[in-house]
Amino acid sequence: MILSIDQGTTGTTAFVFDTSGALIGRSYSELPNYYPRPGWVEQQADEIWQVTLRVCAAALERAGISATDLTAIGITNQRETTILWDRKTGEPVCPAIVWQCRRSADICTELARAGQGDWLRERTGLVLDAYFSASKLQWLFRDRPELLDRARAGELCFGTVDSWLIWNMSGGRAHLTDHTNASRTLLYNLEQRGWDPELLELFGCPESLLPEIMPSAGHFADTDPAAFLGATAPICGVAGDQQASLFGQGCTRPGDIKNTYGTGCFMLAYAGAERPQLPRGLLATIACDTSGAPAYAVEGAVFTGGSAVQWLRDEMGLIQQAAETEMIAQSVPSTRGVYLVPAFSGLGAPHWDPSARGTICGLSRGAGRAELVRATLESIAYQSDELAQLMSEALGLSISHMRVDGGASANNFLMQFQADISALRVERPRQIESTAVGAALLAGIGAGIWSPGDLPESLLEIERDFLPQMSAEKREELLSGWRRAVTACRAF
Ligand code: G3P
Repeated sequence: MILSIDQGTTGTTAFVFDTSGALIGRSYSELPNYYPRPGWVEQQADEIWQVTLRVCAAALERAGISATDLTAIGITNQRETTILWDRKTGEPVCPAIVWQCRRSADICTELARAGQGDWLRERTGLVLDAYFSASKLQWLFRDRPELLDRARAGELCFGTVDSWLIWNMSGGRAHLTDHTNASRTLLYNLEQRGWDPELLELFGCPESLLPEIMPSAGHFADTDPAAFLGATAPICGVAGDQQASLFGQGCTRPGDIKNTYGTGCFMLAYAGAERPQLPRGLLATIACDTSGAPAYAVEGAVFTGGSAVQWLRDEMGLIQQAAETEMIAQSVPSTRGVYLVPAFSGLGAPHWDPSARGTICGLSRGAGRAELVRATLESIAYQSDELAQLMSEALGLSISHMRVDGGASANNFLMQFQADISALRVERPRQIESTAVGAALLAGIGAGIWSPGDLPESLLEIERDFLPQMSAEKREELLSGWRRAVTACRAF
């Protein structure tokens, strides 16, 4: 039995798989997020741990097994979120600063003005942005200098959520992370594959704070029975959630690409053993490797994906539930020329325009609720298409198919429109929780239950293919309308 823990931004899900890949138990619980000031997002590290422990117990109970029956545990997590705790007591010393939190934006602006952006990008594959962990840490040290003193004295531990969970599950014995999570901190050298002393110096981060970095599949630590449900079970797979889903989708050949349709959309393409050189706006990051060789991925994000559908529900009151949108969109033959660009928090790649704002264009008297709902779903596909085009140019590959996962990938209208507008085959797996599948596969490989070339079919099986059916002329007509709408939303 394998327990796969998916600790995400809004909640934790635990899954129990058997060694044939069958899902035999599952449990989910929400995690509170706190917004103490505009642009700030915090969580309580203790709540992350308690919620996780609770859903693990509930998933095991649903599976009808106990933690002592576990052969391996996999962990996948929201990335970049920054936690600091006391090495002796295990108590967090500040709130967890969530990846979405913008409190350290000024530190990034300062560094960018000082001309630090280019070499940082070269070293880390990332951009100088408050999204990543390093400036969050620096903010904490500036805000509370006593934390820096304690960090220098070796009294504190830093970790992303994976490290925090491993620490707690092992009863405070193991301070570890994996390469995929480390590569999201802005402290990690992408080519040397380790913490980079110059980056640590730039962000004022004492080395003693940092966890040891391990390959994603392997023996990380054993759980402590006193801390984790009475069992000593091996933690054998760890990866950041987007890299875990790339792996869980079987994307292990260069050019294999997946798109996760969540609050935003995260598109990753497996790039192989060579670090890809990328245009601005795409990130280079570490992919899960199971052979010990380096593995890289290209990443791009759409800021507003599924959350545009939440907007239809919560702010516009046009729908009761997200699932209705499929039928409503299919009830009309087109949007009647209506475009919605959901640039609620600006536009990401390839536009990178933080000042763009959400815009609806092309309204005529006959356009109503169904057209707007359809335009909202289409906008998720248009934005994902822009990313796919950029990736294909960056990798010099023509992309013929794309794996999809995440909540909104269950929407058949959206998936068909994605296939049509991108002229590629969209492949949806039976198990759309690819993130958890990835962590389970890594744990199974790490524990020696499965080998990378012989993974359980049932976990990777495609449930449905969506083939492009739109003519090239129609596609071009729609895309040119989208481009005009994007221009309008940037001019506002
Ligand atoms: O980089 C942030 C990402 O890892 C968060 O994913 O699924 O928790 O929103 P999620």
